[in-house]
Amino acid sequence: MGIIKKVAIGVGGLVGVLVVAGVGGYVWAGNASATQLARTVTVPTTGFPMPWPAGADSAGGTDSTAMATTAAIARGKHLIEARYPCAECHGADFGGGTMVDDPAMGQILGPNLTTGAGSRTASYTAEDWDRIVRHGVKPDGTRALMPSEDFFAMSDRELSDVVMYIRSLPPVDKTVPVSTLGPVAKALVATGKWTFSADMHPTKHEGAHAALPPAEVADATFGKHLVQGCTGCHRANLAGGPIVAGPPNWPPAANLTPAGLTGWSYDDFVRAMREGVRKDGTPLREPMSVMPKFAKNMTDVEMQALWAYISTVPAVESAPAK
Ligand code: HEC
Ligand code: HEC
Repeated sequence: MGIIKKVAIGVGGLVGVLVVAGVGGYVWAGNASATQLARTVTVPTTGFPMPWPAGADSAGGTDSTAMATTAAIARGKHLIEARYPCAECHGADFGGGTMVDDPAMGQILGPNLTTGAGSRTASYTAEDWDRIVRHGVKPDGTRALMPSEDFFAMSDRELSDVVMYIRSLPPVDKTVPVSTLGPVAKALVATGKWTFSADMHPTKHEGAHAALPPAEVADATFGKHLVQGCTGCHRANLAGGPIVAGPPNWPPAANLTPAGLTGWSYDDFVRAMREGVRKDGTPLREPMSVMPKFAKNMTDVEMQALWAYISTVPAVESAPAK
């Protein structure tokens, strides 16, 4: 979560290639990566109301738009604080932040999403939010460097709530420069080894989004929805293994199927999530060490639903080292 600093695979090897290839290779990588970055993807986009209309439960209020707005912002705040790590890259105040700052990889920056001067999203429509967050594609159709696989399964109402919350924050006047790629990142993009989320879409950008999330009850259906935020690292089958798009120094993601969490109780799981320690009490390493910041804001129902789902998945061995 957060910290999903998608740096890259085979960085060392590529540095070698660049040194051998010399100036000619560097120029080639620069041109070829520019071509890759300019490539566009067509995505069917979905609009949704902002704020999400108040349900029948709030009928009878005197000002239903105001009520809907208050409810949407409250739900969005929870999503940002407990489930979606947008602030890790866009800044705690959403005025801009850093995903990667490294001489080899470059400066990959999360732009200002507030309503202040320098906002990248001031004129965004619901369709624009859908395209970037749930498909990894920018308004001009180019593929974003931002990792968004963990957001693909967001329902319309959740995305609407996230946007309502971000727009309710105090405006920050800050212009974040456009990201610049370092030589290794350019070579990865040029050779097709950079993992663009847009290219990993499970339904190739077809298929509708759910309008609403599953009911918030402590069952495996809601848990399966929540687990989408874990699959970028722990994989769709939860068996873990090397983190495909993580930097080389990250440990493999743990196996969360019964083949890995042998003998774990619900309490062991809660402790790992909220305190960042394994069953034997030893600390979990980065990037899992960031989880408690979010998990301490998860409700007990969310935690129980996650466990309800995790307990039902079949045992699978972890993927081998890369
Ligand atoms: C791991 C870091 C990271 C996370 C987490 C992240 N972003 Fe981003 N985001 C970026 C970067 C980097 C960019 C810059 C554009 C690009 O990727 O090419 C970006 C760009 C954007 C843009 C503007 C695209 C444009 O140029 O028009 C929006 C809107 C956005 N992100 C929304 C979100 C939301 C909402 C979330 C959480 C649900 C989120 N981001 C989570 C890194 C991140
Ligand atoms: C950014 C990547 C990332 C994300 C996202 C992530 N994890 Fe992890 N997780 C890891 C890594 C890596 C480890 C292993 C850490 C170590 O070995 O020190 C781990 C370890 C764990 C463990 C400890 C298991 C053990 O055997 O020690 C649990 C439980 C866990 N994760 C649950 C989750 C759940 C549930 C989610 C989603 C809500 C999640 N993780 C999201 C990377 C991630």
